[in-house]
Amino acid sequence: MLIHNIGELAVVPPGPLRGAAMRSVTSMADAAVAIEDGRIAWFGPRRDLPQRDWGPALDAEGGTVIPGLIDCHTHIPFVGSRSHEFVRRIAGETYLSIMQSGGGIRVTTEAVRRATQEQLVAESLPRLGRMLASGVTTCECKSGYGLTPQDELKQLRAIRDLGGGQPIELIPTFLGAHALPAEFEGRADAFIDCISDETLLKTIAGDRLARFCDVFCDRGAFDVAQARRVLERGLRHGLRPKLHADELAQIGATRLAAELGAVSADHLEHVDDGGMAALAAAGTVAVVLPGTSFFLGIPHADARRMIAAGLAVALATDCNPGSSMIESLPLIMNIACCQLRLLPGEALAACTANAAAAIGEAHRLGAIAPGFDADLVVLDVLGIAEWMYTPGRSRVRTVIKRGRVVWP
Ligand code: NIG
Ligand code: FE
Repeated sequence: MLIHNIGELAVVPPGPLRGAAMRSVTSMADAAVAIEDGRIAWFGPRRDLPQRDWGPALDAEGGTVIPGLIDCHTHIPFVGSRSHEFVRRIAGETYLSIMQSGGGIRVTTEAVRRATQEQLVAESLPRLGRMLASGVTTCECKSGYGLTPQDELKQLRAIRDLGGGQPIELIPTFLGAHALPAEFEGRADAFIDCISDETLLKTIAGDRLARFCDVFCDRGAFDVAQARRVLERGLRHGLRPKLHADELAQIGATRLAAELGAVSADHLEHVDDGGMAALAAAGTVAVVLPGTSFFLGIPHADARRMIAAGLAVALATDCNPGSSMIESLPLIMNIACCQLRLLPGEALAACTANAAAAIGEAHRLGAIAPGFDADLVVLDVLGIAEWMYTPGRSRVRTVIKRGRVVWP
């Protein structure tokens, strides 16, 4: 396939793009992209296009072409709504106080335990459909609402089924240590042993139900020693660590992520300079989730400072029913520009090349480069600045996954 008449091609180089390199997204006017076997075979100014039969042509009509967006942190699949907690928070309660009064993750856990694998799939399909329409071609999905070995496996198998049932490529993460379920109240260490049990991890790794292992390591969740136990056990089964770190408080989670060579440390609203330096030294991607701050009304992570510290910053929705019921990665980019002062090129890099790095796929996804998967989005607007300047307005015209038009 040949995409021609591209008004502006946003050339994102392969990630991870660290620090100042996040500004290396360039724009190429009057461009074309040639695709062969699902991969980018050539890109450049139209006048330089090698003359041969590239197959069917797609007219970008003077719009912008970007790499497919990668949502590198979501809690899909889940079922049910927590809009009552949304209202309680508006009326003055906090995320933590609701969690400590028995609400929060436990409410979704009850719903997920009651749901069948098929129901988890059915409720998630429309959500993924809307994400596809917003330009997402790859999405990380976490378990973490089952909180028993069988229910965690049910969630991971639902992710596997969802991966085969629609065009977005799904990257599964095991987040068994997401919250302490009611039946383990006062026995957190026993729960940690149950949810990182040898048989469970063997099944997950053996059936390739997850690539990563994540833990919610924070005040009100699990401490550093407990997180370490789970992540080290996961590592022995080939599950690479990720970590929910420094979201509600600074308890040392970021340093643990760096020490274990985690692929990403996520949230980081309360990270300090020492934590950032540790992540930079370890090459761990900093995943910032501005939708969570926006949705909970808590301070934003200081992404500018992370970039100044030389970190590769990625952005994601954190899509979940409690702290960020947000499916739109373009909205997240708008918030990142307006509230975190990311430049449009940096925000795009954060949702493409660096998001690819946060899921260990930077060699294949998230860039406009020969040999990379032809995951591309055509926008009906000229330039990424014009795009990010208009929050809440969909500008996606066509979505391409591995060289195939998958939306509309
Ligand atoms: O990333 N921080 C922990 N987990 C989710 C929230 C999950 C929920 O409230 O259901 C998060 O914010
Ligand atoms: Fe999360």
